[in-house]
Amino acid sequence: MAKVLIENLYKIYPGEKGRPEKVAVDNANFEIQDREFMVLVGPSGCGKTTTLRMVAGLEEITRGAIYIDGKKINEIPPKDRDIAMVFQNYALYPHMSVFRNMAFGLELRGVPKDEIRHRVDSAAKTLGLLEPDNLLERKPKALSGGQRQRVALGRAIVRNPKAFLFDEPLSNLDAKMRVETRTEISKLHRKLNSTMIYVTHDQTEAMTMADRIVVMRYGKVQQIAAPLELYHQPANLFVAGFIGSPPMNFFTGTLTASRQGTLEFIEKVPAGQTPFRCALSAETSRRLSSRQDRDVILGLRPEHLHPNSLTSGVTLEATVEVVEPMGAETFVYLRTGGHTCICRTTQIEFMDLEGKKLNLGPDLSRAVFFDPQTEAAIPV
Ligand SMILES: Nc1ncnc2c1ncn2[C@@H]1O[C@H](COP(=O)(O)OP(=O)(O)O)[C@@H](O)[C@H]1O
Ligand SMILES: [Mg+2]
Repeated sequence: MAKVLIENLYKIYPGEKGRPEKVAVDNANFEIQDREFMVLVGPSGCGKTTTLRMVAGLEEITRGAIYIDGKKINEIPPKDRDIAMVFQNYALYPHMSVFRNMAFGLELRGVPKDEIRHRVDSAAKTLGLLEPDNLLERKPKALSGGQRQRVALGRAIVRNPKAFLFDEPLSNLDAKMRVETRTEISKLHRKLNSTMIYVTHDQTEAMTMADRIVVMRYGKVQQIAAPLELYHQPANLFVAGFIGSPPMNFFTGTLTASRQGTLEFIEKVPAGQTPFRCALSAETSRRLSSRQDRDVILGLRPEHLHPNSLTSGVTLEATVEVVEPMGAETFVYLRTGGHTCICRTTQIEFMDLEGKKLNLGPDLSRAVFFDPQTEAAIPV
């Protein structure tokens, strides 16, 4: 059990052969609570692996500090940090049995044989490696991808570490296995009740597994929040667009005063096109009053654009470009005067709508507004 604190953390890789140096982690600050499942998510190259490797002690810290349970660990060698890491390419020893793969690290540490047997059996049981088939004497090549991944997990569990680190552990599995193993890791977290830091580029994994999520981009932390808070109250355009699939719709427009004294959003469109306009509520108008006559970006999730809806009193006329029936729901890709957008609906199974006009009712109570200059969400 452990609390991990990351303080003003930087990683700057030296430039090689005349190349400029690379700031891979740029002043990261966050805390992982004891027993928390924290996910670091962001696009490839944003500094996730580097951050995790600094926690594990596999990468030198350029500046800043990492504390585990209040103790600064910058100078502590990896083997003494009491942390177990599970990698994407789980790298099992091919010539060793499953048992030895799990036992090997403990043997090196001089753990007594009986204790090793006990810990391996217990981990194997937790991971379903004993039943229905006992896999302990098998070699890795006689295992499926999912079973190998479980052995890699077992190797971490037997160490009884203070914290587990995972670096994209599911990316080598096929889609179905990925979903199954995802659930297993979540269950494992509940069973072991230990601190876990999990790195992925996949926002679905982050949303489904995390207690809290750290979103990173270009080495910088963008937002730290629980999954649904990220979804409904993204801190900026990047988070809004990265979390959620299909992504949030963005409309650039201007806020102007209406005759009623409230604000109206008018979409920016090329000359000759009709903008979509909508009157904002009194409350939203008050909140955005300092933005009158200025540009804003209106963000709306695809499920907050209702097809053929007149309920909100606002309609957005759009032309259907593509219809994707998913079974339980349908994704409709549309074009307005100035933008493209996606509507996600269970109301109708749209079939031959392509090229036709559709009236959309935006649920403005769910809208998020962004400042186009700073890209930050305008506070509620
Ligand atoms: N050893 C290294 N030397 C120089 N640059 C590196 C090194 N390792 C990673 N980088 C760079 O640092 C950035 C962050 O990398 P990484 O932490 O692996 O990202 P992620 O895991 O989020 O994909 C990337 O731009 C990557 O190219
Ligand atoms: Mg990585």
